Amino acid sequence: MFTSDTLKDETILITGGGSGLGLAMARKCASLGSNIAICGRTEEKLQKGAEKIKEMGSGGTVRYYVADVRDYDRVKEMMRQIIADFGKMTGLVNNAAGNFLSASEDLSPGGFKAVVDIVLHGSFNCTHVFGNYLIGEERAGNILNMVTTYAESTGSAFVLPSACGKAGVLAMTRSLAYEWATYGIRLNAIAPGPFPTEGAWERLMPDESAEKKFLSKIPAGRYGDKEELANLAVFLMSDMASYITGECVVIDGGERLAAGQFNFIDKLAPREKLKEFFKSMHKREG
Ligand code: HXC
Repeated sequence: MFTSDTLKDETILITGGGSGLGLAMARKCASLGSNIAICGRTEEKLQKGAEKIKEMGSGGTVRYYVADVRDYDRVKEMMRQIIADFGKMTGLVNNAAGNFLSASEDLSPGGFKAVVDIVLHGSFNCTHVFGNYLIGEERAGNILNMVTTYAESTGSAFVLPSACGKAGVLAMTRSLAYEWATYGIRLNAIAPGPFPTEGAWERLMPDESAEKKFLSKIPAGRYGDKEELANLAVFLMSDMASYITGECVVIDGGERLAAGQFNFIDKLAPREKLKEFFKSMHKREG
């Protein structure tokens, strides 16, 4: 459904685009004609990431910028530079995040602040600078925020700062989708379930048995593929989704539905055995 010019004429900044899901989205966008800017804190990671994005490029330019999204002035300077380098900026993906496992009673204020600063303040900083640029230039644009499945209704134990930060980002997505629609600015969010990336896995997966448990919660029976997430990101950023704003699309193989009251029955026996059992119950009734 995408063609090599689906994102032609776009210049998209992807924060934390040097690795993981950010890099996967950057590579996909580049392959569909977009200019790509990535930013992050570590130059070496960005340099390597930019090379990988260039491999996929279909005519666009790729540049990287060393910047910590927590620093508003640095974000402002970076976007000024991006606009000078590319002539314009049309899209922003707030992907940079921080997370670690901790019992909440053991969190230090600094630990809470570090994650919320990256996730919520970082997304605000980039969105605020970019939004002002678009409004000032009377230019339409697109913002995509990476949240999580636990941002919406459940929260999550042991990742309190991330849950709080991402819930804030989701609220920002919806608030601004309404407020800035009049300027032609769309904001949407993606809520990924478990996608194994180095950054997330080394911080969030305690050991192999935890990983097995994790996998068993996903009715699709597998983790997500970065390419699947990148396809969704492209769709939401492209003109194909021009009437979609304020939406949060979950991509998790059904993991969030685990609370369904009778779902556990599926774990009691193989499906064929269950079906026989259901039929025998039916016969007993009738
Ligand atoms: C408890 C910790 C900690 C840990 C850091 N801190 N790691 N506390 N457990 N594992 C505390 C420190 O002690 C310090 O507290 C404060 O946090 C700041 O730590 P620094 O290392 O100085 O901060 P900084 O260098 O800014 O690093 C930020 C970070 C780090 C968030 C802590 O982990 C980071 O840079 N992460 C970026 C990459 C990342 O996390 N990727 C995963 C995202 S995956 P004091 O009290 O001394 O100030 C994701 C997906 C979610 O979000 C969905 C999954 C299914």
